[in-house]
Amino acid sequence: MTSLKIGIVVSSSRPNRIGPKVAQWVSELAPYGTEVDVIDLAAVELPFLAEPELPATGNYTLPSTIAWSEQVRGYDALIITLPEYNAGYPAVVKNAIDSLHAEWNGLPVGVIGYGWGAAANSVKQFGEVLDRVQTVRLDGPGLKFGEDLSPEGDVLDAAPEDAVRGLYDQLVAAVREKVAA
Ligand SMILES: Cc1cc2nc3c(=O)[nH]c(=O)nc-3n(C[C@H](O)[C@H](O)[C@H](O)COP(=O)(O)O)c2cc1C
Repeated sequence: MTSLKIGIVVSSSRPNRIGPKVAQWVSELAPYGTEVDVIDLAAVELPFLAEPELPATGNYTLPSTIAWSEQVRGYDALIITLPEYNAGYPAVVKNAIDSLHAEWNGLPVGVIGYGWGAAANSVKQFGEVLDRVQTVRLDGPGLKFGEDLSPEGDVLDAAPEDAVRGLYDQLVAAVREKVAA
């Protein structure tokens, strides 16, 4: 099998965010045989649902939607790094999901939360979104400020590297199962 392409999504977009540091750490734990890219939603620049037709039709007219669709289709699986904002997930990542439709169906997607409580609320709510769009959802470990991560985004020694490696293994298995089906 050729190497699998896995995108590591930064789902925060504010200035001075730590999301890119978390995504970088996750990308460095990728196993042999995978090719990983960091996908920064701040650089994707999607407008808020500006298409005339519903995403479910697949009739995309805006270059930004077409480019996002092609970008997502270029990956075998994603890992979404997810902070918690006021007990929920960032609007930018919901918009990125809502802007497409068929692209998510059957796509293996892992989630790694980070926050004071490892983003447990955000991960739970976002899981419902991922289930609705029919991804193959795999919940990864969460990173807790003060234990695994500093509030400035420095990854600490206790960070769950083995659990992240385990998430990669599950994603690779899910991709292989999909290809074999
Ligand atoms: C608007 C906002 C709301 C937040 N609410 C929470 C929260 O409910 N729970 C939590 O653990 N952290 C919360 N935080 C702190 C974030 O976990 C922390 O700022 C983290 O770095 C956010 O990720 P980012 O830097 O990639 O944007 C909040 C931060 C912001 C900006």
